[in-house]
Amino acid sequence: MLNPVKVGLMGLGTVGGGTFRVLNKNAREIARRAGREIQITQAAARDYDPEQLPGIDRIEVLDDAFALVENPELDIVIELIGGYSPARELVLRAIENGKHVVTANKALIALHGNEIFAAAQDKGVTVAFEAGVAGGIPIIKAVREGLAANQIEWAAGIINGTGNFILTEMRDAVQGCASAAGGRTPGAAGGRDFEDVLAEAQALGYAEADPTFDVEGIDAAHKLTILGAIAFGIPLQFDKTYTEGISRIEQQDVALAGKLGYRIKHLGITRKTDRGIEMRVHPTLIPERRLIANVDGVMNAVLVKGDAVGPTLYYGAGAGAEPTASAVIADVVDVVRALTTDPENRVPHLAFQPDELSDLPILPMDEVVTAYYLRMQAEDKPGVLARISTILGDAGISIEAMEQHEPAEGATHVPLIMLTHSVREKHMNAAIEKIQALDCINGRVTRIRMEQLDG
Ligand code: HSE
Repeated sequence: MLNPVKVGLMGLGTVGGGTFRVLNKNAREIARRAGREIQITQAAARDYDPEQLPGIDRIEVLDDAFALVENPELDIVIELIGGYSPARELVLRAIENGKHVVTANKALIALHGNEIFAAAQDKGVTVAFEAGVAGGIPIIKAVREGLAANQIEWAAGIINGTGNFILTEMRDAVQGCASAAGGRTPGAAGGRDFEDVLAEAQALGYAEADPTFDVEGIDAAHKLTILGAIAFGIPLQFDKTYTEGISRIEQQDVALAGKLGYRIKHLGITRKTDRGIEMRVHPTLIPERRLIANVDGVMNAVLVKGDAVGPTLYYGAGAGAEPTASAVIADVVDVVRALTTDPENRVPHLAFQPDELSDLPILPMDEVVTAYYLRMQAEDKPGVLARISTILGDAGISIEAMEQHEPAEGATHVPLIMLTHSVREKHMNAAIEKIQALDCINGRVTRIRMEQLDG
């Protein structure tokens, strides 16, 4: 075997610790695959627990990650600090110093990936980021290499485990309730306190340092930005990715969706259309018979449709110490194998050759065409349905199914649920405004987009 490869590890938190442990535990197996021993010879972390890191006393741990990226002995640095800054500066400096970089930092790649990849190309080094999307699932490898023969048509994924965990808790609570029609207790995820569910996701190493990234869809949007770029060979465009979280989903919608044969999942969806690329993250009703509708708890899954292969589904742990370490180390092995290859012969960062990236526009959300679930509180008297259907009809919106529920004791308004056929979002927005303005409608119309995901 060749000499060991020397690696620097920045960050010894959940993923950094997992990476250190897995690399030590499986060192022999990994070296047999890589063709060289992989040694972490230096780490950088401000705060870590040596009890959780057997063997950490045998290597130097610096306080200052900027000193690590200057170490001329390191061939590869692993960035597991997270966040935008100083991760960006550290990665750019490591590249400047001719080091290959492996990162799990989806926020960094989604926002600064174009700049980072250009710098890496100039220097002839690789920046690998498998762990950035869906944690332990090798989705980057699958799309970038395994599906290289295909024109990708669309991809849709549950790519935030914390959000999926919260939605699953809400559904479990609904199923455990005698009456599913009740509203959501403010601040609660299903039968459990919202904070309690979040604390469990944090204990599992899933939740982001700022949990609004999980709940408001920002984390999923980071990952979708990356997935869309490698699926279609477009630059990373986080600012054009439509982002909506799960914080406005109510338990009654979870219950009603279930009665209609659907599950609500928080999806990242990217699709190539004649008019541009859709990039959108939002809660979505999907038929419960789809495999992906049954992906529960903190697990992730990504469906990718290629024109030659058809639909393919990837499932696994989307976060957590050792699952994410699995992806980080696979990237290190890839980089080690490619150390002696000419940069032009390596797999391109965004799957397509850098001078072959496309300038296809990202479709504004207003132009996206989908079906909808609508829920409103309508007055229980003659003519109300006619007024609502006239507004929808005038906007060219066709109703696929409708349900009216019993009013609660003494209530004057009843919950009305409508499923529509596909329509352009801007037409639906205009119709919702008009419906909300009707005197027979109480409060706001809840709207959740629907996808069949059947090809
Ligand atoms: N906060 C993320 C999640 C971690 O819950 O999926 C993995 O990126």
